[in-house]
Amino acid sequence: MEKSVEFQNSAGENQLSKEDQELVLSLPRVKSWDYAFLYQYQGFWCASNCFHGILSFQRHFQAKDTDILLVTFPKSGTTWLKALTYTIANRSRYTLENSPLLTTPSHDLVPFTDVHIYADNKSSTLEDLPTPRILAIHLPYASLPHSIINSNCRIVYLCRNPLDQFISYWHFISKVPQAADPVSIDEAFEMFCQGVQMFGPIWDHELGYWKASLEKSNKILFLKYEDLKEDIIYYIKKLADFIGCPFNNEEEAQGVIEEISKFCSFDNMKNLEVNQIGKLSYFGIENKAYFRKGKVGDWTNHLTPSMSKRLDNLMEEKFGDSGLMTFIQSPKVQKKN
Ligand code: A3P
Repeated sequence: MEKSVEFQNSAGENQLSKEDQELVLSLPRVKSWDYAFLYQYQGFWCASNCFHGILSFQRHFQAKDTDILLVTFPKSGTTWLKALTYTIANRSRYTLENSPLLTTPSHDLVPFTDVHIYADNKSSTLEDLPTPRILAIHLPYASLPHSIINSNCRIVYLCRNPLDQFISYWHFISKVPQAADPVSIDEAFEMFCQGVQMFGPIWDHELGYWKASLEKSNKILFLKYEDLKEDIIYYIKKLADFIGCPFNNEEEAQGVIEEISKFCSFDNMKNLEVNQIGKLSYFGIENKAYFRKGKVGDWTNHLTPSMSKRLDNLMEEKFGDSGLMTFIQSPKVQKKN
């Protein structure tokens, strides 16, 4: 691919300055299984057309103490976390019958600040958001703007078992218009094991937020997709407490938490007309691509025992004695082989 074409965003514009293009072109580059080329920037792999948004976000974003940042590695349950947090935080403004989620995908209600808002030069819209601002990002912890680290804003991080994340991503990538030509699952797995994936390696991403959450438990709530699937009521309460919107006794007695869990459930969200038709306002991805199976352990249907063993060994090595391996493989996660 022509280098100049590579930097174009979905609108066909290249917004990177000459200096930034030189910076990107000086970085290590690989031909990957997800996006045509990925560049290694600050230790993570990044597609060329995401640099404008990411660099701009890193240079200019000013966090507010009241901000809530939802952070995920792609395909870890972002769509669900956005719906849950948006619904919890806005429950006094909208009843479920009038929820904006009925007409707008959660990715448009809570757009990615790094790869969407700043990419489209729309940072001024951030000032108009109600308090608390709910913002989403994919950037690794080590690459966050200083104002996020130094302010009192809070971070909710949702991780997922990398085996399921790989399978989810493997299915998803074939639906992304800008993605690379499809490769076999074996080839994709090989690159995945080398950490080559947009925002990867996944273990560095998860480990960065895990370690930070151990040091700053008031600032970072570290959650796991599999735990939410297991006991969503408990985690909705925990999430509400953490973002400063706790449920009162009356709400609990009225079953508000159960209603939110059903409203945001995979089956309900997947079947909403808004999520069946249309495309996201950015990347041109169909809304329905964000809803596949929504299950724990689908990797057992795709990975051979030797593949899963290799990935387990890799995670053991990468996570070391951090405690994250135990957290990810806690008894709640059903392992079949
Ligand atoms: P699968 O591909 O395993 O089904 P992300 O939102 O980060 O892109 O992650 C997408 C994954 O979350 C997909 O996993 C998708 O089906 C699942 N998902 C989407 N909405 C969900 C919901 N409301 N509850 C549970 N899982 C959901």
